[in-house]
Amino acid sequence: MLEQVTVIGAGVMGHGIAQTVAAGGIPVRLYDLAADTLQRAEASINDNLNLYVQQKALSAEQKQQICKRIQYTTDLDDSLLGSGMILEAIPEVPDLKRQLFEKLEERCGPEVIIASNTSTLPLSTLIRHAVHPERYIIAHFINPAPLIPLVEVVKHELTSESALQATVNLLNRIGKSPVVLKREVPGFIANRLQAALLREAMALIEQGVADAPDIDRVIKDGPGFRWAFIGPVETADYGGLDTWKRVLDNLLPDLDKGEKAPETINRLVARNDLGAKTGRGLCSYEGVSVEEQLQARDTSFIKLLQMKQALARSQGS
Ligand SMILES: NC(=O)c1ccc[n+]([C@@H]2O[C@H](COP(=O)([O-])OP(=O)(O)OC[C@H]3O[C@@H](n4cnc5c(N)ncnc54)[C@H](O)[C@@H]3O)[C@@H](O)[C@H]2O)c1
Repeated sequence: MLEQVTVIGAGVMGHGIAQTVAAGGIPVRLYDLAADTLQRAEASINDNLNLYVQQKALSAEQKQQICKRIQYTTDLDDSLLGSGMILEAIPEVPDLKRQLFEKLEERCGPEVIIASNTSTLPLSTLIRHAVHPERYIIAHFINPAPLIPLVEVVKHELTSESALQATVNLLNRIGKSPVVLKREVPGFIANRLQAALLREAMALIEQGVADAPDIDRVIKDGPGFRWAFIGPVETADYGGLDTWKRVLDNLLPDLDKGEKAPETINRLVARNDLGAKTGRGLCSYEGVSVEEQLQARDTSFIKLLQMKQALARSQGS
């Protein structure tokens, strides 16, 4: 059984992953290059946990225990001490990941599993020089990692069965919902589905069918309301496949088939209007605090998570 986990990279994903592992009861060492990055990560974890306490998802005592399980370090060797699994969350830059993996190969015994959080990079291209390719796997968390249950697990051709099992066991142990892909495919499953939906959403905006807030409301109050409990495949079965056959035959020829990012997104990116992080994007952020919006988002996710967990308990699953 794993007694210590290392998380490498303390940015958007890494700090949340470290918090998730610690909340699952496992001591974790969080490594990054600079002390100030780790200080920001610690402050973010503290803010996240304060929100859970405020929402009664954790007691103050539980918060203290979680905090005690996380050690912060800028020393790679120190971060690896006693660790049976490394969760890598450094930037999506192939050379950075390759260099890191080479350092890990030199430092870790063959039994240590290395799971990358890459969203898009094929694992086989990052580990060409690995002495132990069988220990590598992808564990793709979704932002915000502590609250979104899904983790996509992707093997490459040489990933060992034991590395796969250990990864799935860890994710189950920390309360995640791992889905193992049968084979590697760009974007895995979640981002492929999201990209298909965003492409059509942008086409509807560009064709003047509706503005962004109404498109979002259609999803939040319509299909998205269902999606917290039933997926698109179940939806088709419940609705009737004869009906869905007609829907698909009638509609698919009319859907957007663009192969590049939509024009509206290109235009905004060229102006550096990148959304919440620059205060301008597809939605309006005038007079609103993005910080407060993110807190409101996380509060909703906490409540949904609590409700789903309570329902699962009452249904005995
Ligand atoms: N942001 C998301 O929504 C999201 C979602 C799922 C997966 N991912 C993936 O997770 C990974 C991390 O993304 P992020 O958004 O957290 O990035 P980020 O830029 O927020 O954080 C990356 C961190 O890694 C650190 N770092 C860089 N090189 C390092 C090294 N050699 N050793 C240790 N630390 C190093 C940086 O200092 C930074 O703190 C990427 O592969 C990304 O594709 C991101």
